Amino acid sequence: MNHKEALKHNIFKTISKSAAELNLDSYVIGGFVRDYLLQRGDAKDIDVVAIGSGIALAKQVAKNLPNKPKIQVFKTYGTAMLKLDTIEVEFVGARKESYNEDSRNPTVENGTLQDDQNRRDFSINALALDLSESNFGDLLDPFNGVKDLGDKIIRTPLDPDITYSDDPLRMMRAIRFAAQLGFSIEKKSLDSITKNSERIKIITNERIVVELNKILCSKKPSVGFLLLERTGLLKYILPELTALKGIDEVEGQKHKDNFYHTLEVVDNISKHTEDVWLRWAALLHDIGKAPTKKFSKKVGWTFHAHEFEGSKMVYQLFKRLKMPLNDKMKFVQKLVFMSSRPIVLAQDIVTDSAVRRLVFDAGDYVDDLMTLCEADITTKNPKKFNKYHNNFKIVREKIIEVEEKDSVRNFQPPVSGEEIMKTFNLKPSREIGMIKEAIKEAILEGDIPNEYEAAFNLMVKKGKALGLKISD
Ligand code: CTP
Repeated sequence: MNHKEALKHNIFKTISKSAAELNLDSYVIGGFVRDYLLQRGDAKDIDVVAIGSGIALAKQVAKNLPNKPKIQVFKTYGTAMLKLDTIEVEFVGARKESYNEDSRNPTVENGTLQDDQNRRDFSINALALDLSESNFGDLLDPFNGVKDLGDKIIRTPLDPDITYSDDPLRMMRAIRFAAQLGFSIEKKSLDSITKNSERIKIITNERIVVELNKILCSKKPSVGFLLLERTGLLKYILPELTALKGIDEVEGQKHKDNFYHTLEVVDNISKHTEDVWLRWAALLHDIGKAPTKKFSKKVGWTFHAHEFEGSKMVYQLFKRLKMPLNDKMKFVQKLVFMSSRPIVLAQDIVTDSAVRRLVFDAGDYVDDLMTLCEADITTKNPKKFNKYHNNFKIVREKIIEVEEKDSVRNFQPPVSGEEIMKTFNLKPSREIGMIKEAIKEAILEGDIPNEYEAAFNLMVKKGKALGLKISD
């Protein structure tokens, strides 16, 4: 088969010409070819394999491009990278040995194309298009990758035990591709992942997180997480989640399986947001339930303060996985911490003051928090389901209403501490805090509007009650 039309970008002609000048063959391989055949939208990064030196080819390509771009060379890996406007082109020499970016072995460059394809992760990622001038666009598919694309199957070119031991991250990649593409993993491969799952321990957290994020960004993330769990990988990567598995029963009282519940919540939220951090919040919203689970005869199963515990665990988890400990982490923490707040609202009559407090506490996160809580409704009782959703609708409407009336999101006290000090001729003292707190409470309760005059009057009243005198 010829696929010239995949190679319309000018860069391919330049690579072809450059390779001819160096008297070597070159191919575009991997994800670019796979995604082209799957018609997965815009061209992405391009991987080029040279039968010879990838670095030399990259240099020649750069020389032949009109703007003479700089290339980035990674000597240890024997690769070079060239940035075009929106695409990155990576050049590598064909290898006989394992394709493993963490490998300590020196890179072996004198392989054939077939050697190189053998050492790739999956049949669908070993597809190559010829860039030589005479066979431009010819497809080389030694492992029936095209058939596997059609059959929607993830299969390794070699015995899976070999392919996965070359680079154990591939076990996660298999699952990630299954989740992203809606493919299934060949049984032999799945068994091999299960058998070798412990080897994921040698992979750096940074690489693991890349795959986790891709699974989380897929349309139905539960597909990936269920496979991670089934193969035993999840307990090495996110033990906080596997700890949620199972249903305990004491004296006939059961609690729900919080692992499967969590996956349902993640799938639900994924229908409403592409934001990976909000999806992380959904994934982690119940992790505090495992360490806080208790049974008492009086009240049955409880998970007291699991939101607080969970938010602390978010920090530890991010730290362990070397994820950013920045405002994104704080966002996830806060959402986990507040994850039960709107639920209480949805069960009761929704009062303005409760909504005002919610907006006050959640600040700019309030909309995301609502999205999380709506996704958290997994009851199979249609009556309850409708009731909760309706109540959340009311809460959302009330949020807008309350916001218009008294903007309490990112609350700024209408009367400052300085003004209180001036009015009562006070030095910094406890009373100032008490007055400020009284004003805030009155606003949140709806006793006074969030306005200067009303707040000033309350300040005077409160000050007098505290025995303070207005200064002249
Ligand atoms: N590859 C591999 N083993 C790995 C990583 C990558 O064999 N552990 C090979 C595959 O042939 C893959 C190519 O290198 O197609 C490029 O890898 P990468 O850019 O990580 O993935 P893509 O397949 O391009 O897919 P995506 O961009 O969706 O991650």
